[in-house]
Amino acid sequence: MSGPVIIAFLGKGGSGKSILSSLTGKLVINDKKNLLLIDADPAMGLATALGVQGYKTIGEARENIIQKAKNASGKVEKETLGNEIDVLLMECLFETPDYSLLVMGRTNSIGCYCPVNTLLKRTIKTIASRYDVVIIDAEAGMEQVSRQVTESVHYPVLLTDNSLRGVRTGILINETITSSNQHDVKKTGIIFNRVDRADTELVEKAVEAGIQYYGSIPADENITLWDRKGLPALEMPDETVSLTALKTIMKKINFKPLSSAFSAGEGLNLRGGNFR
Ligand SMILES: Nc1ncnc2c1ncn2[C@@H]1O[C@H](COP(=O)(O)OP(=O)(O)OP(=O)(O)O)[C@@H](O)[C@H]1O
Ligand SMILES: [Mg+2]
Repeated sequence: MSGPVIIAFLGKGGSGKSILSSLTGKLVINDKKNLLLIDADPAMGLATALGVQGYKTIGEARENIIQKAKNASGKVEKETLGNEIDVLLMECLFETPDYSLLVMGRTNSIGCYCPVNTLLKRTIKTIASRYDVVIIDAEAGMEQVSRQVTESVHYPVLLTDNSLRGVRTGILINETITSSNQHDVKKTGIIFNRVDRADTELVEKAVEAGIQYYGSIPADENITLWDRKGLPALEMPDETVSLTALKTIMKKINFKPLSSAFSAGEGLNLRGGNFR
């Protein structure tokens, strides 16, 4: 069985990570693939864009796990704890007929017992292995990349506008990815979002830094309207301009699974999961 394609949207604040994660998700759903969306931003912008409520976050589960771990002293209790973790993580998997969603929530409170990043990585690996495509909406900037949270990602997709700051953030993210031995990465590319045309000089800067230029996405009135009314992003019309542009870009990227990257996560044994 080959593992999923793992795509992460990265870039400076407000560059369109949450909305483009959602719209890429829409394309994946239209393509009849099993989709796992991961909202890795503590601000939970993806969950908001999707318009979902009533989910339990990994952050909350983690608090629970810490509490249980503190109470567990002997070996037997620690084994039970492993099973508890499975159950708690499964409770965080928000499932709809079209996709599943994992919301990380706030996971960086002081004095944490178990490293959250390890938990995040394991969660991604174990749960993700059951899906065709995994899309991660990352936190703005460098933070998650430098903590290697996104280390299992095959396709880091950088987002920017026509600003030097946006492109520089993308270049820094790419440098971090390449220097941190993230061997699962197939290629890193950049999309210029909310622009009529990508600035040639900025594109050149990105390309010189070893980043592929994927294309550009125009400002879309429907995104603005959806945002204003708080409508679910997946209900945007199929023919809306941003989605049409994104479709062309996705065809060009031609995401392929990297089977070696995904076996079930070590040490976790998710039983009784309701995977499709
Ligand atoms: N192509 C577009 N056309 C019109 N509006 C857009 C477009 N792309 C993004 N936006 C708007 O820009 C704002 C930022 O988008 P989004 O929240 O997706 O960015 P983000 O990178 O996730 O931000 P953050 O870093 O705060 O999480 C939102 O109001 C969104 O509706
Ligand atoms: Mg966001």
